[in-house]
Amino acid sequence: MIKKVGVLTGGGDCPGLNPVLRAIVKSGINKYGWEIIGFKDGYHGLVENDFIKLNPGNVSGILDRGGTILGSSNRDNPFNYKVVEKDATKFVDKSDQVISNLKDMGIEAMILIGGDGTLTSGRDFARKGLKVIGVPKTIDNDLSATDLTFGFMTAVETATEAIDKLHSTAESHHRVMVLEVMGRYAGWIALESGIAGGADIILIPEIPFDIQKVAAKVLGRKAAGKTFSIVVAAEGAKSIDGEVVVSHIVKDSPDPIRLGGIGQKVANNLTTIAGFDSRVTVLGHLQRGGSPSAFDRILSTRFGAAAVELAQSGDFGKMVSLKGNEITAVSLEEAVGKLKTVNPQGELIRFAKNIGVGFGD
Ligand code: F6P
Repeated sequence: MIKKVGVLTGGGDCPGLNPVLRAIVKSGINKYGWEIIGFKDGYHGLVENDFIKLNPGNVSGILDRGGTILGSSNRDNPFNYKVVEKDATKFVDKSDQVISNLKDMGIEAMILIGGDGTLTSGRDFARKGLKVIGVPKTIDNDLSATDLTFGFMTAVETATEAIDKLHSTAESHHRVMVLEVMGRYAGWIALESGIAGGADIILIPEIPFDIQKVAAKVLGRKAAGKTFSIVVAAEGAKSIDGEVVVSHIVKDSPDPIRLGGIGQKVANNLTTIAGFDSRVTVLGHLQRGGSPSAFDRILSTRFGAAAVELAQSGDFGKMVSLKGNEITAVSLEEAVGKLKTVNPQGELIRFAKNIGVGFGD
């Protein structure tokens, strides 16, 4: 029987992290009498031994709160950890130190809540013998071993609301409105919010677009009496003859490339080619903030409670996962390193095309 467990939230935050923590703490303590230690700011707290003791009191009232009460970081990799000594920066493997700290603290297992980066380190810790359970999170929904990650549906709701608002102003001014959404190298947020918001054109990384075809679609709508168009562009979308647009580099991040700027590029091109007054809105981190939707509160509660049951049954080295409508578990070895991207031949794309959505292909 496990008695003392550590937990952390790593990577970019997303709506649903607090409900997962709440579910872990409430079920771990109420049902199994665990002691639970929360490490602050993802792997940073684990390496630096910065933690708080979690109890039902400090997770009370957080079900509807965005962010994470533990803090998070998408910069710290315990296997390649940034250390500054005498003005010199070096990267050091701190994994053995972490394992020995946990042993000294009497922590028998870790529940790691994060995306691919956090869970890849989790797999590497599991390979070193640490008892690890993973919980998948990301607004991008790009983890291959789960049908959905929590945070995604809330981001889709936020983007859909933005598309709804852009519609009225686009119509009043006879403009093309381009909304750039997040998602890294996967087009899930763009595709699902685009469908939910009734976008005319959706640009995703999985379908490189021809700007001439995007312009033709906008002009075709004009010819049919529709004097405005809504384009949703995933930040990772690229044209058939171009590359993804990089907004900036975060030097000390394990995944340093930050995407952004394709929306502006598309808007500029549409103004030039189609002669439309075009504007761009970059939704940015609004997609990561705010209260989790009811769907995400339920999914994250299920994931948190399932992670506790998995640890209690001694089934380590696994990540909880949603398959269909069932919560199941997959090995961390299988769960990481593979992106789940949109299938360009899949049902959702086909149906979107059938109802007239353009993808620029
Ligand atoms: O992975 C989540 C995500 O929000 C991506 O959609 C986006 O590309 C990236 O993180 C932004 O990272 P940061 O918060 O470091 O700017």
